[in-house]
Amino acid sequence: MTSRILSEAREYENAAENQILPEDRPLFHLTPKIGWMNDPNGFSQYNGEYHLFYQYYPYQKKWGPMHWGHASSKDLLSWKFLPAALAPDVEADAGGCFSGSAITLDDGRHLLMYTGVVKVHDITEDLFIQTQCLAVGDGLDYVKYEGNPVLDENDIPEGLSRYDFRDPKIWREEDGTFRCVIGGCTPDPEHHGRILYFRSDDGFKWQFVSVLAENDGSLGTMWECPDFFELDGKYVLLISPQDVIQSKKYNCGNITVAMIGTFDKETGVFHKETEQLVDNGIDFYATQTLLSDDGRRIMTAWMQNWDSIVNTSRETRWFGQMVLPRELHVENGRLIQKPIREIEAARKNRVACSGLHISDVREVEGVSGRTVDLTVDIRPTGDHSFRKFEIRFAQQDDTFTSLVYRPFDRTLEFDRTYSGTRRAVIHTRKCKVADHAGCIRLRIILDRYSSEVFINDGEQTLSNVIITGQYADRISFSADGEAEIDIEKYDLCL
Ligand code: FRU
Repeated sequence: MTSRILSEAREYENAAENQILPEDRPLFHLTPKIGWMNDPNGFSQYNGEYHLFYQYYPYQKKWGPMHWGHASSKDLLSWKFLPAALAPDVEADAGGCFSGSAITLDDGRHLLMYTGVVKVHDITEDLFIQTQCLAVGDGLDYVKYEGNPVLDENDIPEGLSRYDFRDPKIWREEDGTFRCVIGGCTPDPEHHGRILYFRSDDGFKWQFVSVLAENDGSLGTMWECPDFFELDGKYVLLISPQDVIQSKKYNCGNITVAMIGTFDKETGVFHKETEQLVDNGIDFYATQTLLSDDGRRIMTAWMQNWDSIVNTSRETRWFGQMVLPRELHVENGRLIQKPIREIEAARKNRVACSGLHISDVREVEGVSGRTVDLTVDIRPTGDHSFRKFEIRFAQQDDTFTSLVYRPFDRTLEFDRTYSGTRRAVIHTRKCKVADHAGCIRLRIILDRYSSEVFINDGEQTLSNVIITGQYADRISFSADGEAEIDIEKYDLCL
């Protein structure tokens, strides 16, 4: 039986959905049916289709009591909205259904594991007691397990806080048994994140195994939204630390970090070998991956930054979008990200030219648009070689967003200061890029409200929201000195 709270949410979103025209959403990035979206949840393949749930508050364009919105897709580009899957409607999750994940049970049912929260008032702030809950369904309707919660404060190691125990990521081992990782944290004022590892034979009864990783205080505070998987002979732990202090290595605020190393399945000990920032853009948080039926490790994330949620367009009735899903690999201890290959089928109207010499500002015939897949290879030319190369896009008159490559500094800088924003928050991000003898390859994927840059075939990425009006669709290239470039550009059409 669908609860009153869930029925109301479904009625509300159905009535509201038709009020949003398809052209007022991104072409191929998932947005909420209506209202607010944050983290991706339950990213999975079920009965041959991809399912992506999300942290959802349908009634306003701001965070509120969390529901789970729901969409499905055959190609990770065209999304079909399904009715909201979860609402805060039982004792264990009366304050909200926080982030979680999904897996298929042996009997074919879809299992959702999520954090149920119950709000309590402390003297100074609202706190949420957090426990892990289950719901079982058929890809459309989900019934909450009567044994909820299945993990609570009695299941976490001593000394960790019951107010920060969230975001279970579930998976199955080859023998059919279940595992999950969950974010934990020491209490205030220390507030250092832990990644907790649990096991289960049936997905319903869980036991704590080990602490996979812990924050010694050098990487933010709480670590949210963990994910853990084997890839290319290594193990990858993804975490989203909060409250990171700016350093040479990491951007401040909420970021996502990958730890890559080895894992002893017997003891539950993860040994980290390397660590890196996952995305260098402003808007990227709370990753979640799935292992597809064809063996790909595919990652999505919330294309947003908690600190810059004010950078939004007044006109849209939705807030929040997911990044373009990415295929992951580990090469030489680093995470490599490529746009899902399905996007190649959406590429139309190829324009290509090679050996173009760029010095002054220049536009190239046929190279414009706001739903675009553009690859630019940039090379030095010898004596008069450039110190700075700039690509401007989403451009019209004084409005533009830019990427500036400085080969001698080995930096790439994204700048959306002139993108039409009305908010005084951070609009630039700069990252160090690898040294390839002054050359760089930039693959820029534009959708109506975002730009994602894949640097040197996925060595690094930069994901950013841009709220620029769609009339701004020009793209230009310029260099101080001379650069030689090759361009390959497609319109993206679904
Ligand atoms: C991350 C997060 C999660 C939590 C959810 C609540 O963005 O804070 O830790 O489950 O959002 O909406």
